[in-house]
Amino acid sequence: MIICHKKEELRHVLEGLVPKNQTLGFVPTMGALHEGHLSIIVKGLKENAKMVVSIFVNPTQFDNSSDLKEYPRTLEHDLELLRSLSEDIVVYAPTVEDIYGELISSEAFSFDGLEHQMEGKFRKGHFDGVGTIVKRLFEIVRPDFAYFGEKDFQQLRIIEKLVEKHHLGVKVIGCDIFRAEDGLAMSSRNQRLSKTHREAAPFIYETLKAAKIRFGTESANKVTTWVVEQFEKQGLLQLEYFTIADEETLLPVETKQNTKSYRAFIAVFAGDIRLIDNIALN
Ligand code: PAJ
Repeated sequence: MIICHKKEELRHVLEGLVPKNQTLGFVPTMGALHEGHLSIIVKGLKENAKMVVSIFVNPTQFDNSSDLKEYPRTLEHDLELLRSLSEDIVVYAPTVEDIYGELISSEAFSFDGLEHQMEGKFRKGHFDGVGTIVKRLFEIVRPDFAYFGEKDFQQLRIIEKLVEKHHLGVKVIGCDIFRAEDGLAMSSRNQRLSKTHREAAPFIYETLKAAKIRFGTESANKVTTWVVEQFEKQGLLQLEYFTIADEETLLPVETKQNTKSYRAFIAVFAGDIRLIDNIALN
């Protein structure tokens, strides 16, 4: 496995690495790798000759400086995991300077309104930070295919929009959410949960599954009110938002239409750890 810390080094390694008529896949991550990340990388390995995995905790996408400071950084362990997966992985683990130079700042993007919903409302500037880093990484790596998890469904939709608007020439592939056995969506933040909050956290997916069944016969408003009540009763997890939205526009659903696909999105605080999840409703 090859590990690069500088973009010039990575470009040099990638020159001629992928045989003619074969493809390069890419999975951008912020490290603290878990089975959710690995499931995406394994999919990419099956579909491409070589894979680049980037590991970079991107400062511009954090709206909260303590979250950035506390974000788990486990590079040696991450490299061990990747090494055990395949020889065909090239890791790009740049420094902040390699990506941003002297000026750590985001570009301002328009994602045609996708950025104003849900995470965009609660994490100011987050998607400008994500857009900035993913665009730079795409320009450095120049992959044929880039893989993103549906765990961050809004991010996935925004990356598709980024590629379309900026003609980045990368095919974006969405990947299923990987869950722990008890249903909790895998996340690098899970390792920061207290024992009590970790035990309570499967309630999030339980509630999403129940909401999905209710949405079969009830309006989005009614389902939302029910979810809010469930979290009030539960007590240990604080609901930040629950929204049923159109998968395409991410706008909250008003009246259901048979031709559209809907998805329920949720953000919850377990103590001071923020967890997100979603479920397809169709
Ligand atoms: P990170 O949270 O490390 O996630 C990297 C990729 O793994 C994302 O596409 C995310 O959706 C996916 N992922 C995380 N948990 C998953 C799970 N349980 N199942 C399936 N996929 C999962 O998302 C980011 O990093 C950053 O915003 C990034 C795109 C790297 C830009 O900095």
